[in-house]
Amino acid sequence: VNHLLGIKYLNKKDITLIFETADHFKEVINRSIKKVPTLRDTTIANIFFENSTRTRLSFELAEKRLSADVVNFSAGQSSVKKGETLIDTVNNILSMKVDLVVMRHPNPGAGIFLSKHVKAAIVNAGDGAHEHPTQALLDSYSIREKLGDVSGKNIVIVGDILHSRVALSNIFALKLQGANVKVCGPKTLIPKHIESLGVSVETNLRKALEWCDVANMLRVQHERMDISYFPSIREYTQQFGVNKQLLDSLDKEIVIMHPGPINRGVEITSDVADSDQSIILHQVENGVAIRMAVLYLLASKIQ
Ligand code: CP
Repeated sequence: VNHLLGIKYLNKKDITLIFETADHFKEVINRSIKKVPTLRDTTIANIFFENSTRTRLSFELAEKRLSADVVNFSAGQSSVKKGETLIDTVNNILSMKVDLVVMRHPNPGAGIFLSKHVKAAIVNAGDGAHEHPTQALLDSYSIREKLGDVSGKNIVIVGDILHSRVALSNIFALKLQGANVKVCGPKTLIPKHIESLGVSVETNLRKALEWCDVANMLRVQHERMDISYFPSIREYTQQFGVNKQLLDSLDKEIVIMHPGPINRGVEITSDVADSDQSIILHQVENGVAIRMAVLYLLASKIQ
C-alpha cells in the first residue's frame, strides 16, 4: 500500500506529478464543475486527534468533489476518551470497509506507526512537530502559481522552526525543487544542526526579507512559547513580526505566505495579511486541488 507520510519520502518527480494532477483538478473546479466521479467506489475516513479548520475542511471538500464516501472522526467525541488505542480505533474504522485514512495526530511519527500496523493507505494531515506534507505541497504549488517556478527562488521561513511541522515539510519540498531556503527566528526556536538540511540561518528579519522573494510567516505557537524559548510575545513581534512599514521600506515587493491560523498583530499585522502582497487565501484555495490530486493518485494505486 502506498501512503503520504511525509515529503521526506517523495522525490522531485512525485511533486511534479502531484502539481500537474492538481492543475487538472483546479481547472475542473474553475470551470464550476464541483464534482467528478473519480473516487465513486472509495471510502475515506478523516480521523483527527488534533484541532483543524483548513486541513480538515479541505480534505473533506476534496473527497466530496471526487465523489468519495466520507466519514469524519474527532477524537474528542470518540471512545478514545474511554482509553481505546490508536490501532484499535483505526482497525475498527477499517472493518467498516474504509479504503483510505487521513489522519492528524499530536505524536510525531503517528502516521508511520499506523502504516506498519493497519491495512489501509494513510495520508498524514500533520503529526506533532514532524511533518505536514499536504501543507508543504500547497505552499510550493502556490509559489509556483505566483512566481512561475519554485526552482532558484529565495524563500525564508520565519518563526518557530523548532516546533513546526510546516517548516520541516516545507524545507524538504523546497529543497527538492531547487529553491534557496533560509530560516529566520530567535536562536532558541531554531533547531541545532538545521544547516544539515541545506538551509541557512538568519536571525535578523530585515536582512532575511531583503534577501528573499517569498516570506512564509509561521504561527507563533502560544501553547509552546514559554520564557525558556523567548522573553515575551511583545519582544517576538518587535523582532520577528512583519508589518506594512517594514515591507514598504524594502526595495522590492516580496510575496507573503502564512499557513494559518494567523495570530493577527503577532507574527503578521492585518494590513499585511490582507494586502495584495499576501497569497494566504490562495494557499487555502489551492489546498483543495492539491488534496484532490494526492487522494486521486493514492486511490489509483490501491484500486
Ligand atoms: N494550516 C493548517 O494546518 O491549518 P489547520 O490547523 O486549521 O488545519
